[in-house]
Amino acid sequence: MNMQTSSRLEGIGEYYFSQKLREIEQLNKEGKQIINLGIGSPDLAPHPDVIKVLQETSAADNVHAYQSYKGSPILRNAISGFYQKWYGVIVDPDTEVLPLIGSKEGIMHICMTYLNTDDQALIPNPGYPTYSSAVKLAGGNPVYYDLTLQNNWEPDLEALEKTDLSKVKLMWVNYPHMPTGQLPSVRFFESLIAFATKHQILICHDNPYSFILNETPQSLLAIKGAKEVVVELNSLSKSSNMAGWRVGMLVGKKKKELTKCCVSNPIWIVVCTCQYNSLLQRRSA
Ligand SMILES: Cc1ncc(COP(=O)(O)O)c(C=O)c1O
Repeated sequence: MNMQTSSRLEGIGEYYFSQKLREIEQLNKEGKQIINLGIGSPDLAPHPDVIKVLQETSAADNVHAYQSYKGSPILRNAISGFYQKWYGVIVDPDTEVLPLIGSKEGIMHICMTYLNTDDQALIPNPGYPTYSSAVKLAGGNPVYYDLTLQNNWEPDLEALEKTDLSKVKLMWVNYPHMPTGQLPSVRFFESLIAFATKHQILICHDNPYSFILNETPQSLLAIKGAKEVVVELNSLSKSSNMAGWRVGMLVGKKKKELTKCCVSNPIWIVVCTCQYNSLLQRRSA
């Protein structure tokens, strides 16, 4: 059978990293010994306590059914405590926290929730390739903004203001920034909130690297006025060496409408582990 793929896949192309990994595999086969710096996949194991709790939890008989669409209350409380302890951000565990199967899932949900055909989303260049794939899959149009060393890898908001922003609904930002590692400054975060408020653009802050090589983890939600214009994604993938476990979270006032697009049930066994897991507890202790 020659089944046609949907038109929404047109222009998406193969996922950037999937293609690169194939090329690296081929070069390695040719004896080139390529060091792969492409994907931020941790090469250490999770904390031994986490593995222990997973083993113990998986033996229980009440952890294998579907779990609630909005995530277990214990996990949502743990996430809320984590945000308060590490970022000084108060979020209501019932209404402002949505557990995810990794933050990547949230990138898709956000685009599906807010973008209509031909709506635009601002996307960092260089940046994580998933933003543009998700925007295109949702029917929107990516508009790339350049990040340069001269401008501390921050968007030039003044230059952006001179462009036509009338169709822009979302702006993807990611600090600490992948791939440059640039940390955010409070001054920059404040100007971003002012920009978003003025132009009524939802800032989607992708924040999986806040604990990596960084003593002062920051959340964009800590900035005054942010809750009105920001949703933030976070993840245990990098910070807790749990990339394959798929534990992420979406935090922000707009979480309610986002649950409409949330078709997954977070993985119960992993969630059970994480709700007791020493990493979440240690970070929120
Ligand atoms: C900037 C950025 N955002 C999101 C992700 C995906 O993280 P998760 O494992 O939580 O889906 C990655 C993974 O490499 C990333 O580099």
